[in-house]
Amino acid sequence: MKFLVTGGAGFIGANFVEYMVNKYPEDEIINLDALTYAGNLETLKNVEDKPNYKFIKGDIADREFIFDLFEKEKPDVVVNFAAESHVDRSIEDPEIFVKTNVMGTTTLLDACVKYGIKRYHQVSTDEVYGDLPLDRPDLFFTESTPLHTSSPYSSSKASADLFVMAYGRTYGLPVTISRCSNNYGPYQFPEKLIPLIISRALNDETIPVYGTGENVRDWLHVYDHCVAIDMILRQGKEGEVYNIGGHNERTNLEVVKTVLRALNKPESLITYVTDRKGHDMRYAIDPTKMETELGWKPVYTFDTGIPQTIEWYLNNKDWWENIVSGEYQNYFQKMYVDKGRVEE
Ligand code: NAD
Ligand code: DAU
Repeated sequence: MKFLVTGGAGFIGANFVEYMVNKYPEDEIINLDALTYAGNLETLKNVEDKPNYKFIKGDIADREFIFDLFEKEKPDVVVNFAAESHVDRSIEDPEIFVKTNVMGTTTLLDACVKYGIKRYHQVSTDEVYGDLPLDRPDLFFTESTPLHTSSPYSSSKASADLFVMAYGRTYGLPVTISRCSNNYGPYQFPEKLIPLIISRALNDETIPVYGTGENVRDWLHVYDHCVAIDMILRQGKEGEVYNIGGHNERTNLEVVKTVLRALNKPESLITYVTDRKGHDMRYAIDPTKMETELGWKPVYTFDTGIPQTIEWYLNNKDWWENIVSGEYQNYFQKMYVDKGRVEE
């Protein structure tokens, strides 16, 4: 089987690529990524020389490029991680979110219709369901919760989901969608809450907490997300949506305090800052469908995943220090262009 994984130089995509390359040596994994600010080939050092792995630089919204790629590679399965993924950036500049997340998705879908595909999988998010109130802990997002978005980011992801379902129904494309809760773990870009806390706390810098810090997120280790997607690809039913989450709800303040405690850093680093516009209050996934239909169960709880993640950031300081300094953006030039592996 030939897998085209898009966005595989980002946080979750790279974890997925490494998981697939190692678990299925007989399968071919093509990693297509535009290497935006969030893409980092240093993340893929462990797999870059594996015979069943190949990296291609390109934009999922570039129609001519995508059609040429499908003509040449004819992938059996497409797993679309590629996206603009940061809510705060979407509030500053929504347009690129429409271009990549919506038009990039429809471009991939059009190529799948033209060239045929065994499965198109869309990596979506629980944010498409909007938020839940803090005073109703009995409520959870199920697959039939209506889409009700808050930010330009979540609106672009929900739009993409609607196109995926429409291509399934109209053109008979074999599609699946997964909607996962907040991920954490190795290789997460330090603009997101947990790596931001770790990297700033280690430098004794202030930790910005939006609003009151009472907002709740439902945290899942990235490894468990990767396993879930693999199961959906192999056992999931065409045309279905699967929610992924492990019942690890925490307020932002709890998360910040847990990480500071683990790093032996003082709570005085916490600084309350102006709230995010339209800030969602609570996300909480009901993962019953994944558990009962596919037999998925997360390996990590928050209490085991957080120490593992902190240890990873402590042991891989170069990786995130290169991001904070901007050095990682020279990696493609150094390792690929200068060595003549690709032309730019
Ligand atoms: P990320 O920002 O770390 O990585 C995104 C990757 O996509 C980067 O490597 C980037 O270079 C690439 N990319 C961006 N625009 C592209 C384009 N036009 N063409 C090709 N590649 C492009 O994101 P992430 O956190 O790894 O999220 C991956 C996917 O999972 C996204 O679709 C996101 O919506 C979804 N998701 C994320 C979370 C989370 O907590 N991070 C949770 C649920 C779902
Ligand atoms: O729920 C899934 C989503 O989780 C994904 O679809 C998104 O791609 C991913 O970025 C994430 O979105 P969030 O907005 O929940 O994640 P973020 O890490 O940006 O913020 C987590 C919470 O922490 C949120 O309530 C905002 C708050 N926050 C964030 C930052 C960066 C702070 O209080 N301070 C900060 O500096």
